[in-house]
Amino acid sequence: MSQEMLNDQLKEVITDLKKKKNYYIITHNYVATDVQEISDYVGDSLQMALNATRCGKDRILVCSIRIMGESAKLLNPDKKVFMAHPTADCQLANLKNVEELKALKQRHPQAEVVCYVNASAALRAESTLTCTSANCLQIIDALPKDAEIIFIPDSNIGKWVEYKTGRKLLMFDSYCYVHHQISLEEALATKAQYPEYKLLVHPECGLEVCKIADKVCSTSQMIAFASENDNVILGTETGLYEQLHKRYPAKKLVPLSSRMVCEDMKKINLERVAAALMQEKYEVTLAADMAERTLHSLRRMWDILK
Ligand code: 13P
Repeated sequence: MSQEMLNDQLKEVITDLKKKKNYYIITHNYVATDVQEISDYVGDSLQMALNATRCGKDRILVCSIRIMGESAKLLNPDKKVFMAHPTADCQLANLKNVEELKALKQRHPQAEVVCYVNASAALRAESTLTCTSANCLQIIDALPKDAEIIFIPDSNIGKWVEYKTGRKLLMFDSYCYVHHQISLEEALATKAQYPEYKLLVHPECGLEVCKIADKVCSTSQMIAFASENDNVILGTETGLYEQLHKRYPAKKLVPLSSRMVCEDMKKINLERVAAALMQEKYEVTLAADMAERTLHSLRRMWDILK
């Protein structure tokens, strides 16, 4: 049987199981497009979890990495939340463990601890304020000018925030390998190859790359830009390029680098989704006190954005 026929069969099985078991499937922008096609919602990390709150189903399947499953559970505590893959996770999110953060907090007891939403719930529970890749500048700008700020876990986003806001942040040295691997030379070479194109990059890229971009933004902001513009270089995981190329085949879009592949996001495929719906094995649970502290940090972000 061809791969295409097998995929069609898997899609039928998934659609059937989804209906029978009352599931809502949420998927991140980086996951393979055939998985996106059988999903009820595809979006950025926080949007996925938020969208599921309005789904009216009692079970959620998360086609993404563990930290995004934790966000889904956090915002949907009364629903059963399952992962499509048991080991798909974010290396960045787990780079700095909670003990190291606690030690840093002890040395800076007055500091505001701002945590990028793509971090484990255990780390986020130790923070006082959440931010996303879309609002990190606005969140830091909203803090008093003399506030001491610890920023975790992505030091590339932290450096971008320091550069744009003029603030000094206390950080660990940790980053996303997918975005960090892009050198200034490689970014300049792609720009030179496509001189008419606008370069969009995710703030998880290194500071030197962010500085030469036309726009530094989240995956959802990249989608919004590409829907209204042509000639765009997409500086993030290649799944986003694949999604947009499929949606807008006539547009001139290119990935900044074909090496920007997140191995964990790519673990999720149609076989995995079908198996996860059948077996219901990888349920996400969050301890009540951890969930409460993580939510507090998220609510403070929403208060600032109001
Ligand atoms: P977004 O929040 O922009 O979707 O980013 C997710 C991510 O993991 C970036 O690497």
